[in-house]
Amino acid sequence: MRINPAELALDGDGTPFSPVYGDVYHSAESGPGQAQQVFVQGNDLPRRWAHARVFTILETGFGLGLNFLATWRQWRADPARCERLHFVSIEKHPFDRAALATLHRRYGEFAPLARQLQDAWPPLVAGMHRLHFEDERLTLTLAFADVAELAPRLRLRADAIYLDGFAPRLNQEMWSPQLLQRLARLARPGTTVATYSSAALVRRGLEAAGFAVEKCPGFGHKREMLRGSYAPRRPQAEADEPGDRHAIVIGAGIAGAAISERLARRGWSIDLIDSRAMPATHAPAGYAGVFHPHVSPDDCMLSRAARNGFLYAVRRWLALEQSGLAPAWARCGVLQLCGDSERERRMLAALAALGFPAEFVRYLERGEAETHAGCALGSGGWWFSGAGWMRPLSLIDAQLAAAGAALSAHFGTRVETISRRGERWQALTAEGKLIAAAPVLVLANSNDTTRLSPVAQPLQQIRGQISYLPAGELSAPRIVLTGSGYVLPAADGVVVTGSTYDRGNDDPEPQMQGHEDNLRRLAQLLPHARVAVDPAKLDGAVGFRCAAPDHLPLVGAMPDVDAARLRGNALSGARLTDLPRRIGLYCASGYASRGLVWAALAGELLASMIEGEPLPIEGDLADALDPGRFVLKQARRGTL
Ligand SMILES: Cc1cc2nc3c(=O)[nH]c(=O)nc-3n(C[C@H](O)[C@H](O)[C@H](O)COP(=O)(O)OP(=O)(O)OC[C@H]3O[C@@H](n4cnc5c(N)ncnc54)[C@H](O)[C@@H]3O)c2cc1C
Ligand SMILES: C[S@@+](CC[C@H](N)C(=O)[O-])C[C@H]1O[C@@H](n2cnc3c(N)ncnc32)[C@H](O)[C@@H]1O
Repeated sequence: MRINPAELALDGDGTPFSPVYGDVYHSAESGPGQAQQVFVQGNDLPRRWAHARVFTILETGFGLGLNFLATWRQWRADPARCERLHFVSIEKHPFDRAALATLHRRYGEFAPLARQLQDAWPPLVAGMHRLHFEDERLTLTLAFADVAELAPRLRLRADAIYLDGFAPRLNQEMWSPQLLQRLARLARPGTTVATYSSAALVRRGLEAAGFAVEKCPGFGHKREMLRGSYAPRRPQAEADEPGDRHAIVIGAGIAGAAISERLARRGWSIDLIDSRAMPATHAPAGYAGVFHPHVSPDDCMLSRAARNGFLYAVRRWLALEQSGLAPAWARCGVLQLCGDSERERRMLAALAALGFPAEFVRYLERGEAETHAGCALGSGGWWFSGAGWMRPLSLIDAQLAAAGAALSAHFGTRVETISRRGERWQALTAEGKLIAAAPVLVLANSNDTTRLSPVAQPLQQIRGQISYLPAGELSAPRIVLTGSGYVLPAADGVVVTGSTYDRGNDDPEPQMQGHEDNLRRLAQLLPHARVAVDPAKLDGAVGFRCAAPDHLPLVGAMPDVDAARLRGNALSGARLTDLPRRIGLYCASGYASRGLVWAALAGELLASMIEGEPLPIEGDLADALDPGRFVLKQARRGTL
């Protein structure tokens, strides 16, 4: 979806106003006052969140974020506040950061919080943006989307709902009976709802959706408002909260390190197992990878997921940096070269159709691209100014340090088998020795994942080799260049370039052929550079990617393939929720060539799933990453 930002305008009273909808953003009397009385008190907050572990608020219409800021302020001031507050809000026409900052100046009472919100404000691109505040005790998940399209795809249980569209007669889709029914599906018995509106249509819609509704005095000049609570006729099953917050994570690569850090943040203890003696020493210090979003003309699943992954990863890494655990990385910008005029035409057309803001991606003509790169190039291309390179080993180090005492490391220990005994998973060595036992086990062991638990689809192991050029041998670009391969700026005396994509080759050592291939790729990226190095003398590194046929990672609860096969035809019309699963077993694997883009978001997604918190991405995206997707596909085709 292309985002059309909101326009900054004021009405005759000086109240923020939408020329598109013809309505004001809040009561002329006071925005903060309305937020406090109608939405915070209307939902019986702070009483309802007192002493809860997690409390979730869902809002329709983020607007200026005044309801969010009022809720945040209330939560901060409350000694009995819930441990963690999730605020999920849907906004079709977000303000850009500058407009938001201008508008926020009107509400001095929120100044310090508003500044934090502005600093964290994401680029205006469609999708869900998870932002953490207050040392992650407050999480805002902003969904830039149309409410009617998004509501069926939200995965969360709300404890309180703020209905804050423009006036129902001017903004009907924010109040339709269908939408209210959808929101009710996200409620649990006792979930409260509040809105400034007292329109009969809204009251009837809420009642039809299962809410018991009452009118009460409105804010300012409004006589009445509505508030209610969800009272479904049929009792609903509630998911169990995890009891013992203890997990085994197999694999201490970027997948396992990220999930360990995310779970540790939520108070879990982790047994992290890796067959390598020290994960942080298994690759040369010079090794660095590239991170950048994926753009496609049809904004396919891969592009949507990679966009969320990229933006979330950068936020996480900045947070690590702020906490003093700085990974070695640079946001020097990445230029995806177009190469020729036909591809240039397609790249330009895609950006025109997608309407992304320049801070996310824009097209650079060759001349401007050369200025950024500091060297001659063969073409222009897509410019991702916030992207760059990262040393994965430094990231792993930083995440393990962040997990701190929550982590028990078992390095130099290979898991041969896993088994479920009673309520716990066990990880065992080849000699049958118990390494660790816990109610939850996460497989983050890349190409070895499906040996321990199948997903009805072999994953491909693809060898990759990168080459290290001595920095003196070429005038390297100041930015990352990608195309058929990639080249990084010089760092620590080395220019990293790569990489090969070798199927059916399992040689763990660099090969001369690989260096030659990499030098050929480099010549395409930098056609004017004279690189006179002898491939036989080059240093490099080899790794093995793990890829699913659809190039998407596998993140989520593991399917029980044997149980699914036993059900046979009964699953032919099944959905993912119908699949039998292996209780407490999850995976974060299949990151293929984009581990840096997937790892942080996948860690947050998995931790949210395990904890029963709102998911950071839309349900259809979560389904696209579900490790059960291959079982489902085969069950539908009758080939399981
Ligand atoms: C040459 C090359 C270049 C690349 N360039 C980039 C790039 O520029 N940008 C990017 O984002 N991605 C890049 N990638 C991809 C990226 O490296 C991967 O996506 C990423 O490393 C996957 O991380 P992981 O944690 O899933 O797997 P791994 O890093 O492979 O970690 C898995 C860990 O599990 C452990 N393990 C496995 N089985 C067991 C077991 N039975 N018991 C105990 N431990 C076990 C292993 O020892 C290993 O440490 C590149 C890959 C290659 C090969
Ligand atoms: C009254 S304002 C919200 C004020 C906001 N809650 C605050 O605290 O500042 C209504 C908001 O709903 C948004 N909106 C309108 N139609 C929408 C739709 N179909 N989907 C999502 N958001 C929509 C508008 O862009 C606007 O920001």
